[in-house]
Amino acid sequence: MSFKGMDIVSIRDLSREQIDQVLDLAERMIPYAKGELFTKAMDGRILANLFFEPSTRTRMSFESAMLRLGGKTLEMSHPSMMSIAKGETLADTIRMVETYSDVIVLRHPHEGSARLAAKFSTKPVINAGDGAGQHPTQTLLDLFTIRRQFGRIDGIKVALVGDLKYGRTVHSLAEALTLFGAEVTFVAPPPLQMPRETVRQVEKMGGKPKLTSKLEEVIKEADVLYVTRIQKERFPDPAEYQKVAGCYRIDNTLLREAKGDLIVMHPLPRVDEIAPEVDGTRHAKYFEQAFNGVPVRMALLQLVLGGDQL
Ligand code: CP
Repeated sequence: MSFKGMDIVSIRDLSREQIDQVLDLAERMIPYAKGELFTKAMDGRILANLFFEPSTRTRMSFESAMLRLGGKTLEMSHPSMMSIAKGETLADTIRMVETYSDVIVLRHPHEGSARLAAKFSTKPVINAGDGAGQHPTQTLLDLFTIRRQFGRIDGIKVALVGDLKYGRTVHSLAEALTLFGAEVTFVAPPPLQMPRETVRQVEKMGGKPKLTSKLEEVIKEADVLYVTRIQKERFPDPAEYQKVAGCYRIDNTLLREAKGDLIVMHPLPRVDEIAPEVDGTRHAKYFEQAFNGVPVRMALLQLVLGGDQL
């Protein structure tokens, strides 16, 4: 199935077969991502990283992925130094950047911005997070992490915990997990529960999501705790944030109740929702999950740009 020239704006743009294709190729990319093997598959190709919101993992892992493939990257300066600060539109910025590069990776605070960018670009656009909307490459690396751990996704019990309203990674992940036959439970305080639209979509896909605010109801049964940060920057009212700040904290006392092979995942950055004491336990998967962003993004770039076969 050809990906060449495709925009990756939403996880819904990809079929189950296409997702499997990315994950299978990502497996083969691991020794290249670790620097144990070398390739020039993307020699002469340029990736433009346009990040209008802070990022460590997504921006740097895309850069690492392109460099590991033998390509080059263009990194934008701070938005205050770009012509957007003089009033240039995102559409015009994209029209320029597509002439300087072969693929555009965009993170932007406004939902729908990646779809708009894709409309104005003849080169592939990859959504690296649009407001509280989608973050499809995070979903791919999350699926990859679960599949590597358990050898399958089907039947795995995943509890999505924390800010399910504003946390964009969980919206696309809930749908993708359902597509692969995982069982999802949404654990959040009522004001931060999963949006109705996502719950309905999961149900439409044949899933039977459970909703609760109590972590203790899921801790004994879960295979995966997917923990998210409360997205302080997306709360319209700071007083509302204060009401839910610090509502869940994963620590070793809680994990004593869990299955021995439960894994704790987190898209990162974390604030205080996972105690540092968890980092050294067999449950902690979040740093490996962050590394998995490199082979998964290498695979996606290879497929979207149609690079030489490895
Ligand atoms: N997971 C994730 O999107 O992290 P960054 O915000 O650091 O890119």
